[in-house]
Amino acid sequence: MASATSPLLVLLAAMAVAALVVAPVSSAAALPSGFADIASKIPNPWSAFKNLTGCHFGEEQQGLAKLKDYLSHFGYLPESPGFNDMFDADLEEAIKVYQRNFGLNITGAMDAPTVAQMMAPRCGVADVINGTSSMGTGAASQAHGRNLYSYFPGAPRWPRSKRSLRYAIAQTAATPIDRATLSRVFARAFARWAAATTLNFTEAASAEDADITIGFHAGDHGDGEAFDGPLGTLAHAFSPTDGRFHLDAAESWVATGDVSRASSAVAVDLESVAVHEIGHLLGLGHSSEPGAIMFPTITSRTRKVDLASDDVVGIQSLYGGNPNFKGVAPPATSSRDMDSGAGALSRPWSALVAVVAVAAGLAVAL
Ligand SMILES: *[C@@H]1O[C@H](CO)[C@@H](O)[C@H](O)[C@H]1NC(C)=O
Ligand SMILES: *[C@@H]1O[C@H](CO)[C@@H](O)[C@H](O)[C@H]1NC(C)=O
Ligand SMILES: *[C@@H]1O[C@H](CO)[C@@H](O)[C@H](O)[C@H]1NC(C)=O
Ligand SMILES: *[C@@H]1O[C@H](CO)[C@@H](O)[C@H](O)[C@H]1NC(C)=O
Ligand SMILES: [Zn+2]
Ligand SMILES: [Zn+2]
Repeated sequence: MASATSPLLVLLAAMAVAALVVAPVSSAAALPSGFADIASKIPNPWSAFKNLTGCHFGEEQQGLAKLKDYLSHFGYLPESPGFNDMFDADLEEAIKVYQRNFGLNITGAMDAPTVAQMMAPRCGVADVINGTSSMGTGAASQAHGRNLYSYFPGAPRWPRSKRSLRYAIAQTAATPIDRATLSRVFARAFARWAAATTLNFTEAASAEDADITIGFHAGDHGDGEAFDGPLGTLAHAFSPTDGRFHLDAAESWVATGDVSRASSAVAVDLESVAVHEIGHLLGLGHSSEPGAIMFPTITSRTRKVDLASDDVVGIQSLYGGNPNFKGVAPPATSSRDMDSGAGALSRPWSALVAVVAVAAGLAVAL
């Protein structure tokens, strides 16, 4: 029963509609694609990529160094202290891998759909970890049959002795959301993973008693992954057994009610993001399946909390299935076990993972 509608399609559709409404007042007419222009008005750190539309191999253009920084941050290029503005072969190859991960046409150029996808706020951590795509489209995915979920290198997971996990909602000073509401939202988010697995979760009174700690933070908060204000990166979590889960306090989080009717165009559904980040805490990386919870982007003012088949097969391969699980659609490959999944990824790995992001239905408010 995974949603057949991809968040990207929703995003593009929303932007297309909005473009019809607002384009006349802007310079959109000069652009090949209205939605890229709309997206560029959303306050986000990547708006300048709009200028790179049409750029391809062999060109030199201001802004390409910033694009290389972005691709490097998400694992598509090695880190460098100073990128230049040349569209070189390495950049072309990096863009191709990015396009494959996001289901775009593999052109190696900054065509309009690629620019739009890159400008969409997203998960802050690497799609490609240590040179290996972790989005289920690389070599490792062969072991996953038709599924697109992924694990972190080495497939870290909580040990067998720790299948009953305790979480603390530890740092809440930076969010206006009241404590009782937070407790309910996170309890529901954890319950979705518990329903599918042999894991269970209980809220602990303090971080000292907890395996997992949840906190709201603004800007630089000491782990090298500074938050960036509204949209952009929304949250990040670390792979097992680290247990840290950080949310950007600057987001317009919606914790109760219908997020699709939120007054803020940049409203983000807290439970939806929590379900995604818990996937990372338990050992899942990003998926290339747009309907999966573990897809890196989420549209703002959108609720997406139901595990897709892709998520379920991935998590059950790590922890086993809950015999009472009513299920989503039957998994595409049900015979795989943990060993085949883990064997595909045996590299060492250091911790930080993911950040979710919002692809923006925001256009509506412009
Ligand atoms: C886009 O490029 C033009 C000229 O090349 C420049 O004037 C403008 O500042 C650039 N815009 C952004 C957002 O980088
Ligand atoms: C891919 O290219 C085909 C043919 O040019 C085009 O019809 C299609 O819309 C493109 N898809 C994307 C996602 O850009
Ligand atoms: C959690 O799981 C453990 C081990 O399967 C079980 O003993 C315990 O009763 C469960 N706790 C809850 C609250 O379901
Ligand atoms: C990346 O790969 C190299 C070479 O295989 C290895 O030495 C290094 O530990 C890996 N780093 C991580 C973070 O996995
Ligand atoms: Zn953090
Ligand atoms: Zn993520």
